[in-house]
Amino acid sequence: MINGKRNQKINGNQKEESNNKNKNDYVIRCQDINLWYDDNHALKDINMNIINNKITAIIGPSGCGKSTLIRVFNRMNDVIEGCRIKGDVIFDGKNIYGKNVDVRAVRSRIGMIFQKPNPFPMSVRDNITYGPRVHGLYDPKILDEIVEDCLKKAALWEEVKDRLKDSAIGLSGGQQQRLCIARALSIEPEVLLMDEPTSSLDPIATAKIEELCQELKKKYTVIIVTHNMQQAARISDYTGFMYLGEMIEFGRTEQIFENPHEELTENYITGRFG
Ligand SMILES: Nc1ncnc2c1ncn2[C@@H]1O[C@H](COP(=O)(O)OP(=O)(O)OP(=O)(O)O)[C@@H](O)[C@H]1O
Ligand SMILES: [Mg+2]
Repeated sequence: MINGKRNQKINGNQKEESNNKNKNDYVIRCQDINLWYDDNHALKDINMNIINNKITAIIGPSGCGKSTLIRVFNRMNDVIEGCRIKGDVIFDGKNIYGKNVDVRAVRSRIGMIFQKPNPFPMSVRDNITYGPRVHGLYDPKILDEIVEDCLKKAALWEEVKDRLKDSAIGLSGGQQQRLCIARALSIEPEVLLMDEPTSSLDPIATAKIEELCQELKKKYTVIIVTHNMQQAARISDYTGFMYLGEMIEFGRTEQIFENPHEELTENYITGRFG
């Protein structure tokens, strides 16, 4: 059970931030999020603000609710039977859980990259043009531009520019994951949610994705779930530590790793559990 003190501290952290931050700097604001899978209370009183053009990492032991939380940000939990959510997620001034919300529009503005690369079984080019075509864009010239632009942003262009017509399934795992990022970028999202995007990749492919995240944050806001604390420390600006469905501590990454305020955070980052 979260205690009042801890809650105050989390809100306190956020207040500190808000002294230097304009409200517009928050791209997503989570207010009192509670989520249940049937009677499993998987997220408890989550309050956090996601800052624009930064990388926010979510860390914590297996089963603590990291994937559940990032699915909250683009309503991906909607499709799970028995899943119930209370609280507000404010994106662009509106509660995405409010009435008359176009969920497809939310998902096109808040894209998602999954743990296992999941390219469509079609050509590299078609993977990227798929989203724009669904949105009614058919001009091959414009589609070509989108393909090149997204592949460049995903740091994949040089490797695949001569293989655009080949099946995406023939790419390496790391290339497939960058293709999935390029595909997500093709519909011009504002936020990219990444759920352990490098956990199935080797160190070289991982380093490429990490570098790419640094590039992406110039234009997008990135929220990344990771089991790898070194990765969180290396690439993120803000870190949230979760435990048993609670956001134990949220703050600037240096503060979380160098000077955690909570004993649980300290125990986790020093490897005492998890
Ligand atoms: N689709 C689902 N249906 C029912 N319960 C679920 C579902 N997904 C997650 N849960 C439960 O919600 C809790 C949080 O799970 P979640 O997958 O969010 O954890 P996680 O922190 O991402 O774990 P991991 O690091 O292992 O990926 C767990 O108790 C889990 O069993
Ligand atoms: Mg998970």
